[in-house]
Amino acid sequence: MDATDPPKLRALTAGDTPDLMALVEEAGWNQTPRDWQIMLAQGKGRGLADPAGRIRASAVTLPYGDALGWIGMVLVAGDWRKRGHATRLLADCIEELRGAGRVAGLDATPAGEPVYTRLGFAGTERISRWRRPARAPQGAAAEGLRPIAPGDLARIAALDAESFGTPRPALIADIARRSDPMGWIAGEGGVLLHRAGRNARQIGPICAPDTATAGRLLDAALAAFGEPLVIDACDARPGFGTLLEARGFSVERPFTRMYLGTPVPPGAPARRFAIAGPELG
Ligand SMILES: CC(C)(COP(=O)(O)OP(=O)(O)OC[C@H]1O[C@@H](n2cnc3c(N)ncnc32)[C@H](O)[C@@H]1OP(=O)(O)O)[C@@H](O)C(=O)NCCC(=O)NCCS
Repeated sequence: MDATDPPKLRALTAGDTPDLMALVEEAGWNQTPRDWQIMLAQGKGRGLADPAGRIRASAVTLPYGDALGWIGMVLVAGDWRKRGHATRLLADCIEELRGAGRVAGLDATPAGEPVYTRLGFAGTERISRWRRPARAPQGAAAEGLRPIAPGDLARIAALDAESFGTPRPALIADIARRSDPMGWIAGEGGVLLHRAGRNARQIGPICAPDTATAGRLLDAALAAFGEPLVIDACDARPGFGTLLEARGFSVERPFTRMYLGTPVPPGAPARRFAIAGPELG
């Protein structure tokens, strides 16, 4: 390959994980090798390799239900940016999803949003990444909640599908099974999941009938974990930002939920307090 040739686009495999983690670290993102493992197992990754075969740019598609495909992990190495690489990877994702009859959805960073807008994506809701530094676990798990048990997996996948709008039971089961406790469930129909991250534990998704229940679920997590925490919270939920501030979280960066073409049914946004993560929706 000539040094002036465009980089080769190829499928990502588990063997690329060290290169992919280098991209995550350079961007300051939170994903772990386990996150890559599950995204590449449940979805399809593609990347651009340098002449030495090292992956310097990535994008992943995850099929959800029959009609949606989620695009995530759009990352380009700093010295490779502004050469059209993200646009090329996105075009490949869009072609795959169109061919499968799926609407494309993603949660865009401010850096990614202009790239996606130019490709025809339109914004829907706003999401904020909140972070809380390490501090001693506080409080006790509230009444009316209990830790999730293996027998709850179908129920929590159904609660997530209702709130997100599209079923993704394999992903939800994977997030739950990674941790002990798996998360918490509220009698009135709420759930909180969490997973380890590279620089903070990610809390989410949180689905709940109201802000008070979302707050009680969050307090159960705060009683269990003293490590740094991040939550990607939906801005439109009344009072939830105030509740996060009161518990020591502050906003780090915004995301915009975007779809290409007709958005899939939005689920029950009023029940969606925190997403699973921008790379997962
Ligand atoms: C966001 C990100 C993925 C964009 O990657 P990229 O490869 O630089 O994107 P592209 O090159 O396709 O497009 C970026 C810009 O370069 C411009 N561009 C493309 N080819 C160009 C060229 N040959 N010469 C000059 N500019 C060019 C594009 O028009 C676009 O312009 P804009 O800044 O006005 O929007 C990259 O900056 C990144 O990895 N950021 C950190 C992680 C992140 O935020 N990812 C997005 C997650 S949603």
